Amino acid sequence: MTTLYAGKGDSKYKICITDKALPKNELNKFIGKKAKVLIVTDSGIPNTYVRALKQSIKNSSVHIHRINKGEQEKSFKNFQQILNKLIDLKFSRTDKIVAFGGGVVGDIAGFSAATFLRGIDYVQIPTTLLSQVDSSVGGKTAINVPQGKNLVGAFYNPKLVLISTTYLKTLSEKEYKSGLGEVIKYAFIDNQKLRRLIEKNSQKIISRDNKILKNIIEQSVKTKSKIVTKDEKESGIRAILNFGHTFGHAIEAHTGYKKLSHGAAITLGMIIASKISFFEGHLKDYQLENIINLADSIGLDTDHSNYKYSVLKKYIMNDKKVADGKLNLIMIDNNYKAFKTYKFKTTNIKKAFNS
Ligand SMILES: NC(=O)c1ccc[n+]([C@@H]2O[C@H](COP(=O)([O-])OP(=O)(O)OC[C@H]3O[C@@H](n4cnc5c(N)ncnc54)[C@H](O)[C@@H]3O)[C@@H](O)[C@H]2O)c1
Repeated sequence: MTTLYAGKGDSKYKICITDKALPKNELNKFIGKKAKVLIVTDSGIPNTYVRALKQSIKNSSVHIHRINKGEQEKSFKNFQQILNKLIDLKFSRTDKIVAFGGGVVGDIAGFSAATFLRGIDYVQIPTTLLSQVDSSVGGKTAINVPQGKNLVGAFYNPKLVLISTTYLKTLSEKEYKSGLGEVIKYAFIDNQKLRRLIEKNSQKIISRDNKILKNIIEQSVKTKSKIVTKDEKESGIRAILNFGHTFGHAIEAHTGYKKLSHGAAITLGMIIASKISFFEGHLKDYQLENIINLADSIGLDTDHSNYKYSVLKKYIMNDKKVADGKLNLIMIDNNYKAFKTYKFKTTNIKKAFNS
């Protein structure tokens, strides 16, 4: 098991990563004795996992709240139902929430923990690759409202994150690849070791080899925790985590959030942003090739030819990265490091879309 940390001062938390079963002792140490526990999970998480998790919690009364699966369930209604459950069960500040599932469960359970009684402790036990490498670390919690995704939320760190690669066996291919999209993001923006690890082990990654998975998750979490610890409230360096997101979000919005998974859309966005970096002279041609080959080698789709700049432009200019009418983009330099800039030619965006 590998142990990492994220957060500062009182909000520092431990992240345990294992290729074996969940470390029960860590979970029980966090919960303590005689606490009440609410496991928040969703209908897509295999029952056997939920049962085993419940059984592994000792000396506490454990309750389960299961929402339906899907992005639309990260809703105000479900948030309210979780709060109602906590009130009905007479939860106090010393009781605990366990977020057990993908990013949807992590975000809504985390937001419930952030707001109930002005904040109670919670643990993230992420079960999708995306949530293991991304959403469980960094303390962003949220729900969606009809006006937009993640519009209501809070920065609220978990007290503990427990990551076991064993959960990933049952993940659908689409969801697995969505997570891989986020993994390569870290390799592109700030982690050479991860880039080489992926280059050498693409077949093992495709076949979900437990040991390699642990290594790539560890490297991804190292990068994410380093960045979010430096910039907890997203006022600076954290922006580089949005590499590929301006174009990826535009593709998601254009396709109604249905056709592609989040990671698949972000992968296309990263390829477009890398091409812009090349046309702007920041990346060498062989480096751009390396980036595209890396994504290809683990089975990610890099062909964005179905998406035209003229069609996506309205979504791109709606992006929250537009400040004072200027679009800010995350680009990559020839040390494979991401940086934010508003200095680029629009013609190079068009060129990137067309290439
Ligand atoms: N808080 C953050 O920093 C942050 C970062 C990135 C994304 N997000 C949020 O994360 C959400 C997406 O998360 P996601 O991609 O994990 O999707 P998800 O939570 O919807 O999970 C995807 C699907 O996989 C199923 N599933 C989960 N674990 C499984 C397992 N082990 N075996 C089989 N099926 C399993 C779920 O039931 C669901 O149907 C979005 O709402 C996004 O806004 C948050």
